[in-house]
Amino acid sequence: MKVEREVILAPMAGYTHSAFRRLCRELGADRTYSELMNATGIIHRGEEVELAYFTDLERPIHLQLYGRNPEEIAAAAVKMVEKYRPEAIDINFGCSVKKVLKAKAAGYLLQFPEEMGRIVEETVKALKPYNTPVTAKIRLGFYEDTLEEIAENLLKAGVSAIALHPRTAKQGFSGSANWERVKDLKRIAGSVPVIGSGDVRNWREIDQKFEETGCDGVMIGRAAVSNPWIFKEYREKRDYNPSVPERVDFILRELSLMWEFFPKEKACKAIKAQISQIFKGIRGKAKLNDAVMRSKSCEELLENLNRIKLEYSAGGE
Ligand SMILES: Cc1cc2nc3c(=O)[nH]c(=O)nc-3n(C[C@H](O)[C@H](O)[C@H](O)COP(=O)(O)O)c2cc1C
Repeated sequence: MKVEREVILAPMAGYTHSAFRRLCRELGADRTYSELMNATGIIHRGEEVELAYFTDLERPIHLQLYGRNPEEIAAAAVKMVEKYRPEAIDINFGCSVKKVLKAKAAGYLLQFPEEMGRIVEETVKALKPYNTPVTAKIRLGFYEDTLEEIAENLLKAGVSAIALHPRTAKQGFSGSANWERVKDLKRIAGSVPVIGSGDVRNWREIDQKFEETGCDGVMIGRAAVSNPWIFKEYREKRDYNPSVPERVDFILRELSLMWEFFPKEKACKAIKAQISQIFKGIRGKAKLNDAVMRSKSCEELLENLNRIKLEYSAGGE
């Protein structure tokens, strides 16, 4: 798989659905990932329909799976490839929320590098007839940094790219991402592309990460939720501070795209978390958020958003 100095939208459960991915691609993201989807749910309950939905505009796209059992993950991967034809299947070995730890899946497996290798190996084998690569997204380890052992097992299993969020699972989001380890992984991985993920806050830091680590891709996660224009800023190499009406228009467009694959009210509820972040740094933000958060229906939310847009267009900024 080829990844050359790409700026990639990181997978984020609850945020990086088809609508947001499309808008980020339009703003300049080079590649996207779906959020993590449960292999058991895919096989037994056809659960993935809303989460796996994507359009050609989001390509290249990796559909991300997590699970416990190598055969089950491989079978889910085959089902996803036959049904959706993504550019790659990614396996999540990073998430450590209670629910997945209880299921002994995803980030839990960082404690068992050989098991991680078996999962990748089985999935690579199953996807060979489809010529679809298998990538992995990892952290440094579970309690401790065991990156070397993890990388060795994944590489031996035939992984096609590795994305590393250089914190341990136990760290969660505390402390800071250790990009020195992205550099180390790049050295270990040879010709297999390495993507770094963690704490990139603005476009200037993107080139810095490429230069300092030699990595092949830089992922943008939380910074893209509050500022999806970061991709445009990087492409144009200049700061961009969208007006409030432009921010509202972004949300309105995202909502209308979400209605293609989410029920209307569900989409309106889901987007509230992003709205509060996209108004970050704006004067009068608390009042804007309050109006949005108190909206009880789609109708009310749209009314409030349009009112905010009008107020700020009329010189309220
Ligand atoms: C709300 C949220 C949801 C996330 N969901 C996923 C996910 O589904 N799959 C995954 O591999 N990583 C997930 N991550 C981790 C991000 O992809 C990324 O590695 C991490 O946030 C560090 O990058 P950042 O500092 O740019 O946000 C999630 C992170 C956040 C904040």
